[in-house]
Amino acid sequence: MRDNSDLAAKTEIRQWAVKSAGGKKATVLELFGGEGHMHDTCYKGVKKHLAFDLRPIDRGTWLQGQNRVLLKDNVQGWSVYDADAYGNPWLVLTDVCRLRGPGEFAMVATCGVSRRLATGDPNKFLKWVTGYNDMPRCGTILRFYDDMVHDVFRVWKGYGVNLTKCVRARSRGNHSVWYYAISAVKTGKAMP
Ligand SMILES: C[S@@+](CC[C@H](N)C(=O)[O-])C[C@H]1O[C@@H](n2cnc3c(N)ncnc32)[C@H](O)[C@@H]1O
Repeated sequence: MRDNSDLAAKTEIRQWAVKSAGGKKATVLELFGGEGHMHDTCYKGVKKHLAFDLRPIDRGTWLQGQNRVLLKDNVQGWSVYDADAYGNPWLVLTDVCRLRGPGEFAMVATCGVSRRLATGDPNKFLKWVTGYNDMPRCGTILRFYDDMVHDVFRVWKGYGVNLTKCVRARSRGNHSVWYYAISAVKTGKAMP
């Protein structure tokens, strides 16, 4: 899969998130920064920016490493968290919801989980988030994709994070990737 399979939808979703986070006042943490296409298209004018990537990317606001590890020391103070993953954006966004302090913020997600579900493989994440540890390998689990996303939101609620708005778009072409922009407010405390 290419990094930016539906650039128009990805851009629109991010413009919505930045607007909901105060436009130019937004402060953006990209958890999957890549080579910076989203930064250059959507985040150039924001107040503050930081990006993580596993690969060494020679750009001023990039840090190299595992996002879930780097997040621990960098999670506070952002108004937009962008998880532009190839596969599963929910695990690291769940870390954001748990570790972050109270306040309003937005999240952006590129979700390719449905491609995995289409193979019938209930991976560890799906078992964890649904609480259904004995879930069998089954060709029909794809139809539970939306339930899985709702289960993620339910876990976030347990961390005191309530969603105020969520918009999503489906990728053109094979329709196997969903793009989300979510605004949220955390009332609970940061949890280690
Ligand atoms: C879909 S691309 C992101 C594209 C990027 N947002 C852009 O606009 O150019 C996914 C990126 O995430 C990086 N990546 C994958 N797993 C990661 C992880 N656990 N921690 C940090 N970066 C990761 C990959 O190296 C890849 O560059």
